[in-house]
Amino acid sequence: MKAKVDQDACIGCGLCPSIAPEVFEMRDDGKAHVIGDEVPQNAENDAKEAEGSCPVNAITTE
Ligand code: F3S
Repeated sequence: MKAKVDQDACIGCGLCPSIAPEVFEMRDDGKAHVIGDEVPQNAENDAKEAEGSCPVNAITTE
C-alpha cells in the first residue's frame, strides 16, 4: 500500500501522525509527510484510519 498527503490540502492538524506514526510525520513546513515509499504491512489499518480521520481529506491510500 502507498499513502499520499495532498500538501495543498493539509492544514497541519497533526492527527495522522498521532494515529499512524509509522506512516506519517510532521515536518518543518508544518505539514504531514509520508515516511518511506511503502506503508509497512502492520501499519496499513492505521494508515486507513488516518485517511478516514483527516478533517480535510488530504490523505489518500491505494
Ligand atoms: Fe494534515 Fe490531515 Fe494529517 S490535515 S496533518 S494530513 S490528518
